[in-house]
Amino acid sequence: MNIQICQDVDSLSRQATVEFVRLANRAISSTGRFTVALAGGSTPRKLYDLLASEAFRTQVIWSNVEVFWGDERCVPPDHPDSNYRMAYEALLSQVPIPPDLIHRMPAERDDVAAAADEYERTIRESFDLADGEFPRFDLILLGMGDDGHTASLFPGTAAIHEQRRLVVAHYVEKFKTNRMTLTPPVLNGGHNVFFLVSGESKAATLKEVLQGESQPDRYPSQVVRPESGSLVWLIDRAAARLLDLAA
Ligand code: 6PG
Repeated sequence: MNIQICQDVDSLSRQATVEFVRLANRAISSTGRFTVALAGGSTPRKLYDLLASEAFRTQVIWSNVEVFWGDERCVPPDHPDSNYRMAYEALLSQVPIPPDLIHRMPAERDDVAAAADEYERTIRESFDLADGEFPRFDLILLGMGDDGHTASLFPGTAAIHEQRRLVVAHYVEKFKTNRMTLTPPVLNGGHNVFFLVSGESKAATLKEVLQGESQPDRYPSQVVRPESGSLVWLIDRAAARLLDLAA
């Protein structure tokens, strides 16, 4: 586990942008494509803005980038809470990714379980998976909520222990709504998994997640331990305040 402490969210976002570009170019030169699962929430916004900026936009061959999401709220794609809308506004509307390589989670459907099955089929087709196989994303971007959730794996939910499905939709009591999310075996199959964590409000939970007892039902971010991939925690000083960095 690689923990990188950045001065603030701007430097965290810049570091993540440089890494995104490096991994994209490495994947595209070795396999011809770069598969990435985007995080939702607010922290990644600056990363997406930077990737779309003049300084970085031209450093990636966007026509070879294939985009998925780690999770999605059960709202229409133009809703203010939509993870797709945030990424579309900040990045996807600014760079020439072929539309058929942008795989939005259709979480607004009434039958959200069927929508999760459909998204699972999309992933299986894109990665040409046989039954029982899991995708190996080149990069998975994740955030961490101040309750320790990641993607839409929330404390106390069965999704934390899902080992067969790639995608599940479940009711999240905390928000009294459904969510769609990639499952732990998919997150743990990533070649590169980056957590982006910023802000004082995350400090106490981050201390527990990284240096406390293993209790993934309480802190689902602990379930992310890639089997063979690289796990990087990009954290700003405010979020890292309580960490024992000598540990
Ligand atoms: C979501 C995200 C979620 C997010 C964390 C952190 O849909 O909300 O996928 O897992 O990464 O809640 O969110 P912030 O970056 O806004 O703190």
